Formats: sequence, structure tokens, C-alpha cells
Amino acid sequence: MSAVVSESTQVATPAHELRDGAFGHATGLSCRECGHQVALGPHYACPECFGPLEIAYDFPAVTREEIEAGPANIWRYKALLPVPSDIESSPNMEPGFTRLLKADNLGRALGIDNLWVKDDSTNPTNSFKDRVVACALSAAREFGSKVFACPSTGNLANAVAAAGARAGIKTVVFIPSNLEKPKQINSAIYTDSLVAVNGNYDDVNKLASEIAGEEDGWAFVNVNVRPYYAEGSKTLGYEIAEQLGWRLPDQIVIPVASGSQLTKVHKAFQELIKLGLVEDKPYKVYGAQATGCSPVSVAYKAGVDAIRPVKPDTIAKSLAIGNPADGIYVLDVCRQTGGAVEDITDDEVRDAIVLLARTEGVFTETAGGTTVGVLKKLVETGQLDTSLETVVINTGHGLKTLDAVADVVGARATIEPNYAAFRDSGIV
Ligand SMILES: Cc1ncc(COP(=O)(O)O)c(C=O)c1O
Ligand SMILES: [Zn+2]
Repeated sequence: MSAVVSESTQVATPAHELRDGAFGHATGLSCRECGHQVALGPHYACPECFGPLEIAYDFPAVTREEIEAGPANIWRYKALLPVPSDIESSPNMEPGFTRLLKADNLGRALGIDNLWVKDDSTNPTNSFKDRVVACALSAAREFGSKVFACPSTGNLANAVAAAGARAGIKTVVFIPSNLEKPKQINSAIYTDSLVAVNGNYDDVNKLASEIAGEEDGWAFVNVNVRPYYAEGSKTLGYEIAEQLGWRLPDQIVIPVASGSQLTKVHKAFQELIKLGLVEDKPYKVYGAQATGCSPVSVAYKAGVDAIRPVKPDTIAKSLAIGNPADGIYVLDVCRQTGGAVEDITDDEVRDAIVLLARTEGVFTETAGGTTVGVLKKLVETGQLDTSLETVVINTGHGLKTLDAVADVVGARATIEPNYAAFRDSGIV
């Protein structure tokens, strides 16, 4: 296969001869808006209409048994991803195949009969971003990129920095300078090139696009290799279906920042149906945002198609994208499937973090607090059917956002080291 680079895509990575099978069964890039086809390359915007490009495939017949015989990570689904068949042989973080927990205690607390938590906090850098980065890293390798980079709300920077270190490729990660300290350290530990930008995520993203247009050989995972990166989120959908016994859930609640993950879980479910790996059935997709950055929820509730960008002000910093690239597609998916998009306050985010920890022993970050809190609100407002099988995704670990709950949990009593003092404390 040779790289045919379209003239009008805004890419600084030079034309690079692609090896056969570099992108598995991917056949090209297709515009989500007008369907225009572009050859596989480090392109992300349609040369005709500037719409986002997505990977198009010619999938082979894939069986459940073939997938089940694969490794306990996302590469068990490699036939459905834009990666080569020898992907496992290059050093990578091997993310995925995280736990799907039956959440009976949380279900009881919320009044939901059949609830599961997909716990993606146990990925190598403790968020779902290891999945998308693993696919982006493969693309960067195949394009011969020199630098692996990203603008990030935190978790992505952690995942890019670690994956780049393991792959032996230079990484440069850009974050808003007001990001939580633990998230900064979780990037800086893997790379000497963490760049803190005085601005919010949307400013950082704009800067990254500018650099991607100017510098040769940079693979910005969520900018110029975004079509490849985004496909990694499909593996969340594949895993949930496989772990349910090759079945789709009735309802699923997913956090929304750029909106990529939500649209890709839906894409994964559709692919599984088309490939005959699961039975075709209706399911509802719900999006979760924090009120302090809820442009998609606002548009959903107003019944409009356009997303009005906002300036984020929330403790859920990993979801703080004021101008979400895939926001309009989130609206489409949630409306088409009969789901909804909902938002909750920062106090509700904190309460939900504590609720999940105390019911299921799972410590989530603010993004997961947002998702569980929205699940609770969907029940309270009658938007979610409590008799149906429901999955909620926990996308990141609470140790990264300790400050969010530092004032709401702590020692119940401080006592002298003797039994009388313990009895006096009123603990029992
Ligand atoms: C922990 C966590 N959950 C969810 C998301 C949302 O991802 P997306 O941008 O695909 O909507 C992010 C994005 O940064 C995140 O860090
Ligand atoms: Zn187009």
C-alpha cells in the first residue's frame, strides 16, 4: 500500500511510504459530513468541507472464538482497529480488558435493578486514555513520526507521556497550567517535555493545531492522527459486550468532554451488530457533563443542533472542553437511541465520587463522579428506566483528583491511643 497524500489537508508530517497492512483492514479515511474519501495518512479534516475524517474498513469475518483467543488487552480486537496484525510485537502499554463489575450495592442505592460499572481506572496510566493512545502510537509509528504529542485536559497527557517513554519516541505534552498537580506529576514523571500553557484546554488545543501545521513529523494524537486515536475508544464498547456474554446492555452512561468516546462506543456496538457478534437490539446512550462545562447538555435540553462554546468552570477538569469537537455527534447518538445528555453540579460530582467508593470500593476521579452523579440524576428525573440493564463507565482513577474530595472525607475522630478514648469517640 502506498501513501497518497491529499493536497489540501493541513498536515505537516511528510509523505511517508506505508508498509503493507500498516492499518490492518482500514481502507481509507471518510468524511463524516460529506462522505468524501481520503487515502490513509495523518489527516483529520475533509479537504472538501473540513468535516472530521473517520476510518473506513473492509472488515473480514471475525468470530467470537478468534477474539476470545486473543490477549487480555485491546489487541484482542485488532482486526477491528486501524493497526497492523503484528501490533503486539512493538512495545506499547497493552491497555484494556478492564473489569466489568456487577454493581449491586450502587444499584440498590440508586434504585437500579441491574447495574454494572466498567472500571477503566485500572488501565496502565489509570484512565481510558491508554486505549486511544495505543492506537495513535501505532499510527505515529507507521507514519514515521518523530514526536508524539497532545494537547490534554490531563489524562491524555499522562497516557501519551508513558506510551512514548515505553516506545522510545520523544513526547511533548501540552496542558492548561491550572491543571491538578497530581495530573501534572503523572505526566512529568514520564517525560521531560511537559508544557504548561496559560489558558484553558481550548487555548491549548488551538496552539497544538498551530504547531501541527508548522512542525514536520509531529503526531498530535488528538489532532492530526485523531481518526486513528479515536478508534481506540471502540474497545470499551467491544469489551462491555463481550464481558456481558456477547450482549449489548439496554442503557449506558458515558462522560463527555470532546464527545469522542461516547460516539465510538456507539460505533463499536453498531459494528458488533453488523459483524453478527451480538444480537441486534435497541439500547440507549446517555452523556454526562458537569454543569460548569456543559455545552452539549445545554444544547440537548434546548432541543438545538448547534453547540455554543463555553468557558469551563468546574472541578471536573478532565471533562473541561468548552468547544467539543464531537459534541454534535453526541447529540445525534443520544437523540437517535432515545437516551439523553444531563449535567450535575460540582457538589453532586463530589457526592457521587464518595457514593461509588462506599458502595463498590471503586475510587473514581471527577469524570467518573460526573458520570455516576448523572446516572443518579437520570433516575431521579425519570429519564432512565431502572428496570433495564445499565452500564456506567468509570474512566479514571480518584488518586489523580484527591483535592476534589479532600474536604468532604477524612478522619471521623482523632483520639488518644487507648480503649476508653476509642469508646468515647462514638464510632461504635
Ligand atoms: C477521565 C476522562 N473521562 C472522559 C473523558 C472524555 O473523553 P472524550 O474527549 O472522548 O469525550 C476524558 C477526556 O479527557 C477523561 O480524561
Ligand atoms: Zn467532507
